[in-house]
Order: sequence, then C-alpha cells, then structure tokens
Amino acid sequence: MTYSAHFRIWRGSAAGGSLQDFDVDVSEGEVVLDIVHRIQATQAPDLAVRWNCKAGKCGSCSAEVNGRPRLMCMTRMSVFTEDEAVTVTPLRAFPVLRDLVTDVSFNYTKAREVPSFAPPEGLAPGEFRMQQVDVDRSQEFRKCIECFLCQNVCHVIRDHEDNKPAFAGPRFFARLAELEMHPLDTVDRRKRSQEQHGIGMCNITKCCSEVCPEGIKITDNAIIPMKERVADRKYDPVRWLGARIGRRGDGGAEV
Ligand code: SF4
Ligand code: SF4
Ligand code: FES
Repeated sequence: MTYSAHFRIWRGSAAGGSLQDFDVDVSEGEVVLDIVHRIQATQAPDLAVRWNCKAGKCGSCSAEVNGRPRLMCMTRMSVFTEDEAVTVTPLRAFPVLRDLVTDVSFNYTKAREVPSFAPPEGLAPGEFRMQQVDVDRSQEFRKCIECFLCQNVCHVIRDHEDNKPAFAGPRFFARLAELEMHPLDTVDRRKRSQEQHGIGMCNITKCCSEVCPEGIKITDNAIIPMKERVADRKYDPVRWLGARIGRRGDGGAEV
C-alpha cells in the first residue's frame, strides 16, 4: 500500500536556509530515512544527509522530525497520519554544515576532556574480580551509540551557546558516571564533574533521558547519583579520602 506524503526538509548552510517542500511516495513499513533517501534519489540529488547503519546503532542519522530529536532510521512513517506534513530539520544545538548535516565536533572535544579509565598501577590481569552489581551499573551507560540527541535537546547548550565551553552535556555525564562507578577507577571524577564538566548547570529537567533511543536513564541513573557524589565529596572529604585509600589498598568496591 502506497500513499503520497508531504515532506518539508530544511536546506541550506551556515549562511542560512529554508524549508523545501516535497511530495513523495511512502510504502508500508518505511521509516523517515527511507523517504529522505527517496527524495535524494528522485528529486534532490544534492540533499546532504548523514547516515550509516540504518539500524539504530551508529548514531549518525540524528535530526529533528516535527520538532522532536530522533533517529531518522528508527522513526516509522506509521507514527504520522497520511495527511500530516513531516518536517525534517538539522540538530539545533550544533552548527549546520549543509542541509541535514551538522558539525558535532563539540562532542568529540568534550569526549577528549574526560580522562580515560585509570586502574591502580601494577594491577595485573586476573587480580581483581568485578562484582556483577558493578557490571550491571555501568552496562546501561555502555549502550550509548553517541547519537548526541541528548546533547541536542539539553537547554543548557541548545539555548545558550556561551555555556558550551563549561558544560560537557548529558552524554558525558553518563560517561563520567560510568567511570566513577567502576570500582577500580582511581580518578576523582566528582571534583572534575563540577569544576571542569559543569554538572552543576544541569537542573534535572530529564529532557535528555526522554529522547535517548537506547532508553538510558541519564538523569536518574547518571546525573543525580553524580550530583549526590559531588555533594558527598564536598561536604565529607574525610570519607572520600578513606574510600579512595581503601579502594587502592584492597582492590575492593568503594563504600
Ligand atoms: S537533565 Fe540536565 S543534562 Fe539532561 S537535558 Fe536537563 S539540564 Fe540537560
Ligand atoms: S546517551 Fe542516549 S541520547 Fe545521548 S548520545 Fe548516548 S545514545 Fe544518544
Ligand atoms: S543510520 Fe545508524 S542510527 Fe540511523
């Protein structure tokens, strides 16, 4: 079964642009990315769109569909009525390169600012047995596909370009939490979370969790626990120091 849908796609560059209208056939079972590809194949061969896996796993095809940040390859056409116009625009928090393609290098800069996993020196393979509870805790964060939809929707940078230098964003708060919750990591990520990564600017609106295609509870399971750990460290440094010494001495989990 085929019907004709009305698409409005933003076309342009950093210098400016506008929505361009397309009427295009849609078949049963198709997703927004299929339709964008059909437009590219039949009506606008120079339409720029980034994609790779078409399976919700590479994180490349992020865009705003009818104003909501989504993966185009995971957005079924059946969520729209046949007479509803489907508007596709580039991610708003990042600079446009061309059409639907944005420059997301802000996120790579932020990724580089997070120190990598740092186990105790001299720990040989097999000397530490990780508890299942610790595996489970970080497993959720490791599902991240780096689509940056959470970064795009966060009002701290979406609406305030000047906050970008001081704010890592939800994807990297999840990364910081993943490392902080690892029983062998020796870096003080709490102090850094506040002073270098700006976690204090997050006011727990949960918009990031709502758009995450992997269903990661970024706010509840990463940001709030990190904020609590930041507060613990700030107001009880003796407890923090004792926990770190214990962690290094016996390889055990942090209290
Ligand atoms: S919960 Fe925090 S990080 Fe997530 S969107 Fe809201 S302000 Fe941004
Ligand atoms: S946390 Fe979720 S929304 Fe954010 S980049 Fe990872 S997969 Fe995408
Ligand atoms: S094309 Fe890979 S997530 Fe959509």
